[in-house]
Amino acid sequence: MTYWDTVGATKTFTHPLHHPWLAGIDPAARILDYGCGYGRTMAELVTLGFPDVSGVDVSPAVIARGRREHPDLDLGVIASPPTVDRPASGADVVVLFAVLTCVPEDEAQTALAAEVTRLLAPGGLLYVSDLLLRPGRPAVFTTSDGAVCRHHERDHLLRLFAGFDLVAERHLDVTTMNGNPASGIQLLLRRGEDDAGVVGGADPL
Ligand SMILES: C[S@@+](CC[C@H](N)C(=O)[O-])C[C@H]1O[C@@H](n2cnc3c(N)ncnc32)[C@H](O)[C@@H]1O
Repeated sequence: MTYWDTVGATKTFTHPLHHPWLAGIDPAARILDYGCGYGRTMAELVTLGFPDVSGVDVSPAVIARGRREHPDLDLGVIASPPTVDRPASGADVVVLFAVLTCVPEDEAQTALAAEVTRLLAPGGLLYVSDLLLRPGRPAVFTTSDGAVCRHHERDHLLRLFAGFDLVAERHLDVTTMNGNPASGIQLLLRRGEDDAGVVGGADPL
């Protein structure tokens, strides 16, 4: 059993949706929450007036919790990560909140970024929230309860989605799932209208 199927499935996740960034999005947008956890951000998006929200996550336990807490949400397990069994370009918006931090390896991050790009329609928005590397701290570390996490340089995240245009960026204080203070970064990125979804490689750690 992985961390996310055991202790991780009991945690409270915290990265906030920045409502001003949602203001210009068509209420009919097809929103996919990749690594949705127990549906926290999905439920908020529905409440904010976006009915077409679905979410996928690698952890069956986290998805089971989401189905208990939010029976009306469309939640699914990613059976063969990072690939989601859905057609290309089927989402107008992809939400990727505190997921890259759970994927420490460069190759796995690049594959995840490529899959997110495939799922997103050209011209669609990618809303990333993740954790910034603090000076003097290790990029990859194991928490006291066994999660392997990665914190990132800002430019690493931008390189990962090199085929996207940066629409907006904000830096914020966040609390980790273990209650520790951390530096968060949020990026609103737009996939080019006519690109082939080029995804950049990440620099090695
Ligand atoms: C910190 S939680 C954030 C959950 C949710 N995005 C939120 O903000 O409430 C990270 C989630 O990513 C999921 N996850 C971990 N590795 C993943 C992967 N390779 N692909 C998709 N989801 C993953 C975990 O199961 C967990 O639900």
